[in-house]
Amino acid sequence: MKAKQLTKAYDGKKAVDEVSFSIPKGKVTSLIGPNGAGKSTVMGMISRLIASDSGCIDFEEKDIKQWKSRELAKKLAILTQSNAIQMKLTVKELVSFGRFPYSGSHINETDKKIIDRAISYMELCELENRFIDELSGGQRQRAYIAMVIAQDTDYILLDEPTNNLDIYHATNMMKIVRRLCDELGKTVVMVLHEINYAAFYSDYICAFKDGRIAKFGTVREVMTKEVLSDIYRVDFEIQEIEGKPLSIYY
Ligand SMILES: Nc1ncnc2c1ncn2[C@@H]1O[C@H](COP(=O)(O)OP(=O)(O)OP(=O)(O)O)[C@@H](O)[C@H]1O
Ligand SMILES: [Mg+2]
Repeated sequence: MKAKQLTKAYDGKKAVDEVSFSIPKGKVTSLIGPNGAGKSTVMGMISRLIASDSGCIDFEEKDIKQWKSRELAKKLAILTQSNAIQMKLTVKELVSFGRFPYSGSHINETDKKIIDRAISYMELCELENRFIDELSGGQRQRAYIAMVIAQDTDYILLDEPTNNLDIYHATNMMKIVRRLCDELGKTVVMVLHEINYAAFYSDYICAFKDGRIAKFGTVREVMTKEVLSDIYRVDFEIQEIEGKPLSIYY
């Protein structure tokens, strides 16, 4: 996936300003950066949920605008930052819902294969089958992630997947992401505020600041005192732990 000069303004104010990048296939790429830097707007544009004002996105050698929704939904699934399905659904129904939010089509509940797959993803995310509006914030977040990965698309986009998750479940989720990439060849793009998760579990990091890319590179190229201190405006130290450059900030 290649984005060229993407720009998006809201009410005349640029949220994303002529941003170009390419997402390496079969790798995990994390978008980091302060609140309001434009990360979710970029995620929205690369999943076609948000229309760009200008610029273009090549997705599998075709302009993303030319993809039929149903075909795009088979290739790419996204967890948005604010999930809110206003329906009384159980976890199992949600996870097997599939193809959401593009086609809105219900999958026939009698399709055993889909139900089995939903159950295996529920188990992977350690979920019981209860109504989603009766779950805790973190349980609901895991149910939404299970729904997204159960769609079995080549591209998986996760906007702040660790939101509301405790350290055990957040770490578990990062390990699932790594396996989706390493064992199933998925391309994962995620937005993270925990930069040490980005450093530990991704291959590439794209650091945003003020609607632009401050630095896009391998984990080692981006996880430097200079880049991080610049984008977040706090002091950083980098320490090698288990062969990864991890950060301490204060
Ligand atoms: N629907 C909208 N209408 C108006 N302004 C918006 C809208 N969505 C985003 N913005 C603005 O665009 C800018 C970028 O927002 P975006 O959601 O992309 O940031 P972000 O990097 O994802 O931040 P966060 O880390 O807080 O999620 C912000 O200034 C925000 O206020
Ligand atoms: Mg966001």
